Amino acid sequence: MIRYSANITIMMAAARKASKSILRDFGELEKLQVSIKGQNDFVTMADIKAQEIIHYELSRARENYGFLMEEGNNKSSINDNEFTWIIDPIDGTLNFMNGIPYFGISIALNQKDKLIAGLVYDPVHNDFYWAEEGTGAYLNDQRLRVTNKSTLDKSVIALGIPFLGRGDHKQHIRSQEAVMSKVAGLRRFGAASLDLAYVAAGKVDGFWEYGLSPWDVAAGIILVKEAGGLASGIDNIENPLLTGNIVAGNVNIVKELQNILNS
Ligand code: IPD
Ligand code: CA
Repeated sequence: MIRYSANITIMMAAARKASKSILRDFGELEKLQVSIKGQNDFVTMADIKAQEIIHYELSRARENYGFLMEEGNNKSSINDNEFTWIIDPIDGTLNFMNGIPYFGISIALNQKDKLIAGLVYDPVHNDFYWAEEGTGAYLNDQRLRVTNKSTLDKSVIALGIPFLGRGDHKQHIRSQEAVMSKVAGLRRFGAASLDLAYVAAGKVDGFWEYGLSPWDVAAGIILVKEAGGLASGIDNIENPLLTGNIVAGNVNIVKELQNILNS
């Protein structure tokens, strides 16, 4: 039987509370006709409500911790406080608003210059992916390991695809074309934090995306590392938490992907 640390217990409780509001709103969205699903105000409200719940629960439990969160303009930097919560209340908002059940709540805890805990909660499946520095990565009570494939040809790789003028579309097409000829399959699921949790859980062998935000990747980075994998910058020197360019998987898969993406 797993003993959850105080931090993980707090993070799980906050995510569970927020998920009640998120799932109620998801239920409402599922009932809407497809033509009126892109209800941006409704979705923005769902994000804000969830973030407020998480913020309230975490600040009640831990005083003087900073917050770096997706919604709103009140963002502290991870250097402002010794401890900072990094939060995405609904990662995979586009899926959420279209009734696609692939989205997550992402909460990480950063101390000075390192991530010390991470949680990605998939509320539709009631799955907690969590990790703490030095104690491993878990899906609920089950220990996680990244896969041990040594080459790409049998690998399933998740990726992010730039959209709506964001990112370098031409470069992405070139990268995707180069990778797709070498792998068993590519998957674009639509929630980077959960994609990284899937890498940690060995559901996919790797993941890459450019231009993400700290709240998309923070929890996933520690999950992958504690599952025995690498979550690295695409050019290997950059810190993915700071640049948002990330490649993850076991060491071999990360190296193979880096070679292709940098060539
Ligand atoms: C998005 C998701 C998506 C990724 C985007 C992110 P959001 O986060 O993680 O998978 O491709 O770049 O912005 O907007 O749904 O919280
Ligand atoms: Ca996000």
